[in-house]
Amino acid sequence: MAREQILKKYEPNRENLLYILHDIQDANEGKYLTEEDLKEVAKYVNVSRSEVMGVVTFYTMFSVKERGKHVVRVCVSPPCQMMGSDTIMGYLKKALGVKDGQTTNDKLFTLESAACLGVCAVAPAMMIDEEVYGNLTPEKIDEIIKKYRGKNNG
Ligand code: FES
Repeated sequence: MAREQILKKYEPNRENLLYILHDIQDANEGKYLTEEDLKEVAKYVNVSRSEVMGVVTFYTMFSVKERGKHVVRVCVSPPCQMMGSDTIMGYLKKALGVKDGQTTNDKLFTLESAACLGVCAVAPAMMIDEEVYGNLTPEKIDEIIKKYRGKNNG
């Protein structure tokens, strides 16, 4: 859906800012927000561009950098950290061949660290796009990554 159509879905007020940004980012090919998006959204909800930028940089779910088809977000907040999120992050870096914040050469995955995903009971946890995965182990990660790679080959 184009940006204009997304904007029309919402009343032009700042309470809708997060929803609007989320929808636009989701609709963009590289799962990110462009400079043009920030400006247009700011105009629409009548706030400054820097305020919109502040929101975008505060929430780790938003990005102003083009990302891969699937965004892998590893929770690095304390409860997950205690359960080994460092190992999980390290394993994913190796499995995908990227550093935190980078996108794989085939543009299939972007790896990012994230704050609490709200599923601490199944720590360590990660999200791929909208899907949550908990109680992670290297074996489980292999299976999950394989599933996503398979989906994109078929
Ligand atoms: S701390 Fe990781 S999901 Fe809450």
